Amino acid sequence: MYLTAEEEKILNRESGEAPATAMRLLVTMGEVFDADRLIPIKSAQISGISYKTIGDAGLEFIQDFSRLGAKTSVYTSINPTGMDLDDWKEIGIPEDFAINQKKIISALNDIGVESTCTCTPYLLENIPKYGDHLAWAESSAVIYANSVLGAMTNREGGPIALASAIIGKTPLYGFHIKENRKPTISIDVQDELKNELDFSLLGFYIGKKVSGEIPLINLPTGFINNIFLKTLGAAMATSGGQAIYHIKDITPESKDFKQEKLREKITVKRYDLNETKESLSQEIDPDIVFIGCPHCSIEEIEEISEISRGIRFVKKLYVCTSRHVWKIAKSKGYIDKIEKAGGRVLKDTCMVVTPLERMGISRVMTNSSKAAYYLPTLCKSKACLRDLKGCMNYAIDRN
Ligand code: F3S
Repeated sequence: MYLTAEEEKILNRESGEAPATAMRLLVTMGEVFDADRLIPIKSAQISGISYKTIGDAGLEFIQDFSRLGAKTSVYTSINPTGMDLDDWKEIGIPEDFAINQKKIISALNDIGVESTCTCTPYLLENIPKYGDHLAWAESSAVIYANSVLGAMTNREGGPIALASAIIGKTPLYGFHIKENRKPTISIDVQDELKNELDFSLLGFYIGKKVSGEIPLINLPTGFINNIFLKTLGAAMATSGGQAIYHIKDITPESKDFKQEKLREKITVKRYDLNETKESLSQEIDPDIVFIGCPHCSIEEIEEISEISRGIRFVKKLYVCTSRHVWKIAKSKGYIDKIEKAGGRVLKDTCMVVTPLERMGISRVMTNSSKAAYYLPTLCKSKACLRDLKGCMNYAIDRN
């Protein structure tokens, strides 16, 4: 891979040990994927932040980087942590876990990373623009950035995203090249999709069915918004590892590939979504209702606050969002409304990356296919799926 004179100097430790280590990681990655050179990025996003998922080995890796004097050179955000950094005691996070989680955040802050603690960095102020190159790691954020915003990022591993944050560059390969973003398969959805759960189930079905392909989805007419697109992509990235999709006449790059010859046409019917739901959802009496996978937008919190008006939740309700959206929701009175009704709005975390099993929670209701998929494997918790209204009705005990 070609390196500029300045990049060679960094590799040869002339800027210190930390940038040299980061550059070595990027060069190794670039050579594996046959990249020509490095390109500048607008931002980085690092996953693998929860002490639950990375443990002591991950903590030491980040601390080692920090001790070497590493500093980010572009805006860098991070994924959710294992707890609400302010209100961890109230939700039953064990003290030993909290101590280690805070060490991870502290080491990242020393490197220059912002404590955004969210999987929806595209809902913060620093929204990527069409054509921006990024080095993002969170799979649901990567697919949203590529598909909905038309920004360009590979699905980076945590260490590579950190190395890119330090150097401010990433190897030029994969989804940084327009040619590699072309759809390869056509998906024809034949029944109308009604809500966020339908989009989540569709994403999971497509991912499973066409893993490794780039789908061009043809939707029947009907209402669509960014909440639906975020849950569609999160589910697709979970079951199929997709980093990009296109929706005819909706996502920005779909018009660029109108002439492409696609290999196959797959039709999706209501029956396929019902079957997908059955495969992910168990018959249980949930301990909690969890909304916010991926993290809730302000519109979702507003909707939940409207439902909360004048009622009392009799089941535990945890709504998860970013610290940024939480502050806006607080200023608009949404948080107070939800919490007055007995729900909790947590920031910095989600139920999949908290130590649920140590909090006495083993049965979760959610409206997210991604959460329903990971809860049994990562949290030893059973999961059941309903749409937002169904989840709220359960929490209010209306059924
Ligand atoms: Fe985000 Fe947690 Fe879901 S990190 S995408 S809310 S599993």
